[in-house]
Amino acid sequence: MAGGITQTEYWNGEVGARWARNQAVLDGMFVPLTEALFARLPFDPGDTALDIGCGSGATTLEAARRVGPGGAITGADISAPLLAVARSRVAGEASGAAPIRFVEADVERADLGHFDIALSRFGVMFFSDSGRAFANLRRMLKPGGRLTFLCWRPLSENLWVSVPRDAVLPLLPEIPPPPQPDTPGPFRFADADPLVALLRGAGFARVTCDALDRDIVVGQGATDAAATDAATRVSLDLGPSSHLIREAAPDLRARAEAAVTKILRPYAQGGVVRLRAACWLAQAA
Ligand SMILES: C[S@@+](CC[C@H](N)C(=O)[O-])C[C@H]1O[C@@H](n2cnc3c(N)ncnc32)[C@H](O)[C@@H]1O
Repeated sequence: MAGGITQTEYWNGEVGARWARNQAVLDGMFVPLTEALFARLPFDPGDTALDIGCGSGATTLEAARRVGPGGAITGADISAPLLAVARSRVAGEASGAAPIRFVEADVERADLGHFDIALSRFGVMFFSDSGRAFANLRRMLKPGGRLTFLCWRPLSENLWVSVPRDAVLPLLPEIPPPPQPDTPGPFRFADADPLVALLRGAGFARVTCDALDRDIVVGQGATDAAATDAATRVSLDLGPSSHLIREAAPDLRARAEAAVTKILRPYAQGGVVRLRAACWLAQAA
């Protein structure tokens, strides 16, 4: 649940619509992380792959390009608006890629076939029962198949989240309570040990969890001021702290924007605001 609503409601509501509208911004921001994910995915021609929580499909399209026409890729997600964006992007793909099927499905329970590879960019932290979901994913892997995914390390290590959050928190009437342990959310797998135990419990024998740190572009523009404005918008509208002021009155929103712009301005250089992102790159077989 997110604020008393289910994940299906969450990703089909205002948040899903915002992510869908900002697909290009989010994909641009995640480029260095996506490259690191694919560097760990040794696709063979003809492989079949499942993209878990594929969202607007950037990683599904990339997997299809890598596997080539003899393979087949499935992108699964519970968000209709994000899947609509994903489907619209397939038409623009050059030939030579694997055929792609996008399905609206809850990966925690669905049986989507059998795959050589299951992958995800930040799509595995939102299951209601992670143990059941990872066991289901394992069932969908062929013998020798491998699960590879990115998830976030702790918020405090993700400066792209913590820096703007530090500017917003003092403005709020109340400090929001920390998330309950093991509930859906971006930082659910911040600690590697419980994640590794969870994957082993789901039946994976070989599990690795490697730290991945990259500077990501949170905003860019013709000037440093424009880049900072863009980074402020990303922080307050799209990032994991956006829920803090999603329903704020205009006055609080304006003060939050000013505070985030001020705190981000020193990070702008050459028309780009870059901040550190900290992930786990997990593999299980
Ligand atoms: C943080 S977004 C990441 C989207 C995409 N992978 C990307 O990197 O742009 C998380 C995605 O997981 C999806 N999701 C959450 N729970 C899911 C579930 N049980 N089954 C399938 N998709 C799910 C959401 O709808 C959302 O698209």
